[in-house]
Amino acid sequence: MIADLTGSTALITGAGQGIGRGIALVMAGQGADIALADLPSGTAADVAKEVEALGRKAIVVDLDVTIKQQCVDAIARVIDEWGKMDILVNNAGVAGAPGSLPTRPGRDIDWEFTWQVNVKGVADMTEAALPHLKERRSGKIINTASVAARAPLFNTAYYATTKMAVIAYTQAVAKEMAPYNVNVNAVCPGRLYTAFHRDWLIGREQAGDEAVVGRDHHEVFDEALKEVIPLGREQLPEDIGAMVAFLASESARNITGQSIQVDGGQVMA
Ligand SMILES: NC(=O)c1ccc[n+]([C@@H]2O[C@H](COP(=O)([O-])OP(=O)(O)OC[C@H]3O[C@@H](n4cnc5c(N)ncnc54)[C@H](O)[C@@H]3O)[C@@H](O)[C@H]2O)c1
Repeated sequence: MIADLTGSTALITGAGQGIGRGIALVMAGQGADIALADLPSGTAADVAKEVEALGRKAIVVDLDVTIKQQCVDAIARVIDEWGKMDILVNNAGVAGAPGSLPTRPGRDIDWEFTWQVNVKGVADMTEAALPHLKERRSGKIINTASVAARAPLFNTAYYATTKMAVIAYTQAVAKEMAPYNVNVNAVCPGRLYTAFHRDWLIGREQAGDEAVVGRDHHEVFDEALKEVIPLGREQLPEDIGAMVAFLASESARNITGQSIQVDGGQVMA
């Protein structure tokens, strides 16, 4: 057991795949019921079946975090169905606007789109949840930031900026919510071979990057991470899930305002 979440209810954004799915399955394994919120085009319904197979309740919530009313409705839906929401995990995020390329600096649309999802989406979900958590004088919020806030990749200043903003927002809300016994933390994943990184490598290949063209993408990914990650291996969604489950539990009741790396030692601070 990582953390006892028996009887807890959690809403996770971007839960249909990748890190969000990993968080959902680890938290369900620790006893939480899970609301899986994602874009309607996603695969949250498949993850719901996996959560149910672990013996927990699951609901699927269609959500675009860039639409404020949908954020309000998503939180209300969980409270309606389960009577309470104990844990909010703001995990949905993007690496850029559609068509962004790792081989060139971000365009205006990358700055705007990424800010709307990665920062404003986190803030709107959080603001929608706060009245309920304040009233109950308990709750946990965990935001997905990134190692990129402290160790940015080339051409992704706009992305690194959003993730540092998530860390600043986490600290500000942690202070505001401390009198209400609500803990607010961020997890900073390192490098995971999810769609997020796969699409990035596909972009490099399409742009004719010789280091990628004609090669197995996972192999290229592994080579690159060995240069920067002391432990020399990729992180997995369940590694992030384990940290989130711990932060969501009462074992972490005296931890707030932190941004914790799960990155194989890439950033040591
Ligand atoms: N993969 C990595 O190496 C890595 C590293 C550090 C941080 N992160 C962060 O982890 C989080 C999850 O990334 P991932 O690797 O699982 O990527 P992913 O692309 O596999 O998953 C992202 C999820 O967010 C959802 N999403 C995107 N826009 C949304 C919106 N407007 N409303 C609701 N949902 C939306 C997607 O549908 C998808 O389910 C992101 O915040 C990302 O920035 C990823």
